[in-house]
Amino acid sequence: MQQKIDEIKNNFFEEIKNIKELASLEEFRIKYLSKNGLVTKLFDEFRELSKEEKPKFGQVINKVKNEVQDAFNELKTILEADNKSFENYIDLTLPGREKVVGTKHILTQTLDEMKSIFIQLGFSVHEGPELESDYNNFEALNFPDDHPARDMQDTFFVNDKFLLRTHTSPVQVRLMNEQKPPIRAIMPGKVYRNEAVSMKSYCLFHQVEGLYVDEGVTFAELKGTIVAFLKQFFGNDIKYRFRPSFFPFTEPSAEVDIWWVPEGKEGRWMEIMGCGMVDPNVLENCGIDSEKYTGYAFGMGVERTAMRKYGIDDIRHFFDNDKRFLTQF
Ligand code: PHE
Repeated sequence: MQQKIDEIKNNFFEEIKNIKELASLEEFRIKYLSKNGLVTKLFDEFRELSKEEKPKFGQVINKVKNEVQDAFNELKTILEADNKSFENYIDLTLPGREKVVGTKHILTQTLDEMKSIFIQLGFSVHEGPELESDYNNFEALNFPDDHPARDMQDTFFVNDKFLLRTHTSPVQVRLMNEQKPPIRAIMPGKVYRNEAVSMKSYCLFHQVEGLYVDEGVTFAELKGTIVAFLKQFFGNDIKYRFRPSFFPFTEPSAEVDIWWVPEGKEGRWMEIMGCGMVDPNVLENCGIDSEKYTGYAFGMGVERTAMRKYGIDDIRHFFDNDKRFLTQF
């Protein structure tokens, strides 16, 4: 009996050395440790032994069984861990997954381009809050009390003193209150209007305001700056016109239209900005001597300008966040 036990044990430890993978480990387990395995069978033989022999071999067989089981378990853990190792775990022949790379929103791209053109022209960039006081949005900008733009139709009032700014012009007021001339800055940002949403208008849009205040600033300079911008932004053959207009905070005032031929439609003039010479009242409201200084200001709609440049026919596309639209740019 002892000899048989030794033989099985020795064979077991001899054979286990050659096992390198889980599949052969399983065969090995069946051979030694399954119900009919060699080690298990020792217990059947043990039952046949005489009363005197039983206590002695009981211990021996149990000891061997434990040693063998421990060695098996240890190898199993090693092989399983191995199996999860890099080469076994990752199939290097599988095709790769395509990475989706995000892009800047077309409005951000447009704003970036506008900023870089004006920076080249000597403007700095300033921002102001979207929640504004009635004073900065209207009163300081020379809006008479009964001006229709103050009507609830156009303005999202928060209370009777504060509102969501309806244009970026209040940043002019802030800037002129903070700095003394010469001031040459653009002021990009979001503006809000309580208007019916349509192809052409949305309750939220972006403007880029420009302001230049110094001694002897003229309308000719305003025109030169705007034309330089239009040519650089749209290309040299852009067709534009300046049309007399009215704004409470500029005098004289103009609007700038550019020629647009929407796909499959007839060409038409499209208004993209307002501009003019800063009204002396506004300069005085901001503590700037209007006898000494003059200034020009302009404000343009970013969505409209982008629509013309990229042939986008509906302003709502900018805000829908439809990837099919966004990934085109
Ligand atoms: N703030 C005006 C608007 O929103 C645009 C403008 C700005 C006009 C500066 C003249 C000068 O319509």
